This record gives sequence, structure tokens and C-alpha cells, in this order.
Amino acid sequence: MERITERRREPEPVAFNRRIEETQLRLGQEAGRVASLPRVLKAADIPWEKSMQTALSRQWVSAAPRDRLAKAPIRTMGILEQILEPGMKGGRHRHVREAIFYIIDGEGYEIHDGKRYDWAAGDIMAVPSYCDHQHFNPDPRLRSRMWYSIPVVVEFMGIHWIEQIETGPGYRLAEGTQPVLGPGNKIIGYRTPDGQEVKFELDESIQSRLDASSTAVETIDAPANSYDEYIKLLQEEVRWRASAPHVVKGADVPWENTRMGKIKFLVTPRSGCGLKAYDAFLQEMPPGGCSGRHRHAAEEAHKILRGRGYDVHDGVRHDWEAEDVVCIPPYVEHQHFNSDPRETALFVAFQSRLYGFLGHGGIYHLEDAGPRPFDKSRRHGR
Ligand SMILES: [Fe+2]
Ligand SMILES: [Fe+2]
Repeated sequence: MERITERRREPEPVAFNRRIEETQLRLGQEAGRVASLPRVLKAADIPWEKSMQTALSRQWVSAAPRDRLAKAPIRTMGILEQILEPGMKGGRHRHVREAIFYIIDGEGYEIHDGKRYDWAAGDIMAVPSYCDHQHFNPDPRLRSRMWYSIPVVVEFMGIHWIEQIETGPGYRLAEGTQPVLGPGNKIIGYRTPDGQEVKFELDESIQSRLDASSTAVETIDAPANSYDEYIKLLQEEVRWRASAPHVVKGADVPWENTRMGKIKFLVTPRSGCGLKAYDAFLQEMPPGGCSGRHRHAAEEAHKILRGRGYDVHDGVRHDWEAEDVVCIPPYVEHQHFNSDPRETALFVAFQSRLYGFLGHGGIYHLEDAGPRPFDKSRRHGR
């Protein structure tokens, strides 16, 4: 009996898998390639396009997984911009991922799940997850312009879908598709050559999945067990979704003088905005001044609103000017410099909060901000 037991303990011959080596090599190659992607994206290289949502939009960093890391070193954020012409409204739609908007120009309003939210230049507008939304620019003369971002990761998590309810202005069917017509010959959807049919409406099967996330069905104040704690967690999310502000008025947020510089923190984990995946802030730098120097895991992207200057990322200089988008990949040591002797520089920043949820939050501060004499900038080559 004993001899049989011992024989069973003998190791069986097994294959030697190389997954760890393959991962190490793949990550090394990817890191090298990503590091070579441009940190500063120039407005002239990003064309305006028409889409189902709006007559004018452009994609700074693609939100499509197939284009991930093709042109910019940003992984978790699709970064876009759109213009609403005077008197125009965008397409009406709903998606699981949230979206953060910074209003660059103009004023208008949103309809989110039937409720109106007004916004104006300098505000953050939040489209929370699961929200049926549409943008409106009622001004008869002025365009409104928004810089915005959507988190890319929901598709990898299996919870991504988009329901188009109403198309934006000037919608054209894709080549080869056939219109699906409703009453009065109105286009209510399209059919692809291989028979897929998409209707412009809220999908009932999706709605049934989302009901639990939008309707409080039960209240548990003192959970009796661990299972009830999970039920309570959903109830807290339902309450948060119903009560969180969808617009952060820029004028209501104070500027703070921090070790990183003069910053207006528009969205933070404590600010109670209807966003989970983003932080956002405005930063101003005086002529010839610079920010602090720091490092963090969270990806960050800046839209330069005013001025010209440069970033130093891990010792390498990257020049920027108004309208550019600056990309800061994870764990890169970075500092921003205003190289103009007369004009103040201003940028708005979106930062992914997702890293913090995974235990990679916080900031490692390395050097204080300040007005710097110009010999400081000469250290970086100009
Ligand atoms: Fe949207
Ligand atoms: Fe930063």
C-alpha cells in the first residue's frame, strides 16, 4: 500500500510553459515602442470629422481598442473634441461608460435622462455611466466647443454597449447599409449587408439589465451579513447616480496655490461629481514660470488653452503651444514650463482615477513650483 502511495507522489513529466518569459519580452518591446510615441499631439495633425453624434468632432486619442497605442502613449482614455454649431444639438444616445467634458467655448445645456443641466465655458460637464444624453447649443450666433474623454477599459470588462436614440445633424448612412424606415418614412435604423439590424432606440434588453443600477428597490441601513453589504453597495451607487452633480461650475471652484503650482481642482475624489473614472483640473503658469515636478501612476492628458511652453518628461523636453494635447504616460517624472516671457499659460488636465482603484494612486512630489529665472529653461536646450 505504502509503495503505491509513494509512486503516486512521483512528479509526472509536464511541459515547460514560457508565458512569463513571453510576457516579459512583450512588455519590454511594448514599453520601448510606447516611449517613442509623441508626447505632444499637434492640432494640425488631428482632422475634424462628421459622425453620427455631431457634425464636427476630432479624435486626439482613439477610444477604439484596435487603435490602442497606435499614435499616442495613452492607454485608458479616449480623448476627443467636438463643436456644436449655433442652434445645433448633438445625437441622443446612451452608453455604459461615463464621459467627462471640459467646455472650452460657448454655453448650452444637456438633457440627461430627461433632466436639463446648463453649462458654459470653464465648466466640467459629467455624463455619468448609463445616462441617456444629448448636447444642445441654443445660442444663435456662437459655437460651443468641448474637449472630452471616455474611459476605454469598459470594453475589456464586458460592459460596453452604445444605444443610439436619435442621430446628430447631417447623418449619412454608411456605404452598403440600408435604411430601416418607420412611420412617415423616417429613418429609424439601418441594416448591414450581412443582415445585422440596428435601431435608433433604447434597447429593452439593456434597460432590464440597467434597471437595478438606476432604481432603488430596497433600503438596508444595517446589513445583517456580507451578502446584504453587497446589496447595500448597489443602493449607495443608485443614490450617488441620482444625486451627483452633472455640471461643475468652474467659477465656483477656487484657485489653490499648491506645491505643484496654481491649480483649480475641478474634479477630485472628494468633490462629489458624477464621475468615477476621472479627476480634472486647470493649471495656470505665470510668464517664465514652471510647475512643480512630480510622478504618479495615473495617466494624464492636457489640452493647452493658452500660451506656449514645454514639458520635461524623464529629462526629455517636449514643446507645446495653445491647442496642442500633451500626453503623460504612467510613472513618468514630469514638469511643465511656460517659455513665454509675457503671456500666462493655461491648460486643462484630465487624469485617470482608475489607477487609484487598483492600488496605484497618489503623487510622488519631487520639486516645488515657482517662477523660475530663464536660465532654468536653458537647462533643457533652448
Ligand atoms: Fe456620449
Ligand atoms: Fe502630473
